Amino acid sequence: MPPEVSISGFPRLLLVDENGNPIKASSIPINGKQIALFPYPLSNEPNMLLALGDSSGSPVEVPPTTVVVPQTGASYEFPGGVGPNKNIVAYSALCQHLGCTFPELTFYPPGVKAITVNGPMDKVIHCSCHGSTFDPYKGGAVVTGPTVRPLPAVVLEWDSNTDELYAVKMIGPVIYGHPGFNTPTNNTINNPTGDLTGGSPISGTST
Ligand code: FES
Repeated sequence: MPPEVSISGFPRLLLVDENGNPIKASSIPINGKQIALFPYPLSNEPNMLLALGDSSGSPVEVPPTTVVVPQTGASYEFPGGVGPNKNIVAYSALCQHLGCTFPELTFYPPGVKAITVNGPMDKVIHCSCHGSTFDPYKGGAVVTGPTVRPLPAVVLEWDSNTDELYAVKMIGPVIYGHPGFNTPTNNTINNPTGDLTGGSPISGTST
């Protein structure tokens, strides 16, 4: 068993901007390539916050979807976008291949194309380190390798009274710290029981 410096579950984190002010869901730029980065659930784990839209800049509702992990064939349920238009999503900013982060791992909104092994593609999260591509409209699913794992998603809650956003847990094949493995071992995974629903307790410390 891996050591557990344990907290009893995922923290509920109010998302704030660089000045410490709560991020209002309605104020996140749609298709903004300037992604907000926030650490969760550990202080050294960055995530990207995106408000997804179509090519005309209108919000695109992100429906719930089943995400498959190519590495194992397992799957888990992504709950979809939140906010007034259900278009706000958040994903780990650690590439699940070898751990590159922003700006190598970044969102390419409609009309801004990444060069992928499948040709130029927009509406993806692409990692320029080795070419992994993920679909932010479908729960962070793998579009192209070499990654064999989707981007873990931050499950968000939106308070319709305050327009504020909370991170409440992560789902997916979450690897703590720098992933660095195509074949992760138990002590690098926060859910070594294989529970991909973000079950608790998680390993690690909350700071
Ligand atoms: Fe992102 Fe290799 S670290 S593709």
